[in-house]
Amino acid sequence: MKKPHQLISDRWSPVAFDSKEVDFDQIHLLFEAAKWAPSAMNSQPWRFIFATKKMSEYKTLLGLMNEDNQLWAKSAPLLVMPLAQVISTYKNRPNRLALYEVGMAVGNLLLQATAMGLMVHQMSGYDVDRAKEELIIPTRYEPMSIMAIGYKGDPAQLPKDVAARERRERTRNENSKFLVAGKCK
Ligand SMILES: Cc1cc2nc3c(=O)[nH]c(=O)nc-3n(C[C@H](O)[C@H](O)[C@H](O)COP(=O)(O)O)c2cc1C
Repeated sequence: MKKPHQLISDRWSPVAFDSKEVDFDQIHLLFEAAKWAPSAMNSQPWRFIFATKKMSEYKTLLGLMNEDNQLWAKSAPLLVMPLAQVISTYKNRPNRLALYEVGMAVGNLLLQATAMGLMVHQMSGYDVDRAKEELIIPTRYEPMSIMAIGYKGDPAQLPKDVAARERRERTRNENSKFLVAGKCK
């Protein structure tokens, strides 16, 4: 079976990050990639909260995560939280596609990161209610994942059971499990 493009096949979610910083030019490029994602009516219903390790908000983002995630994510030099604008400013209507569109922006960011030799590990294991409060997220936005971003690190710096996650086999469903010819039944 042929593999997809290398930018796709090279991406995976590490638990070990190097302490090397992601500089602001690189951070800018990541969001430049995200911003060129398509969206209905070009509404671009995304926001990204970011914090580098030097920023006080880094600790806030880290503190939202469950303990298992904090354990490895704390070595990542950059944390990013994508937000979806689920209530449009146009007549305050719900935007049912906002999550889909933020996902595309994040997909772009993942490809750009891979092209730049950066690794991204996303997590949903964090306190969403506390995130809304502590990060002062406007009510029309819904927080998505938190992304830990940085360069590949040495898993030996982590507890053995955590480090072992990097050696786990990566698998996916067979195409037949999600592909539907024509209609669903
Ligand atoms: C929305 C989302 C939420 C995730 N939540 C967590 C999480 O809380 N903790 C964690 O360690 N990994 C989390 N992951 C990482 C997935 O487990 C990982 O992407 C999946 O196992 C596939 O592995 P791969 O990214 O290496 O291809 C999350 C990934 C996504 C996209």
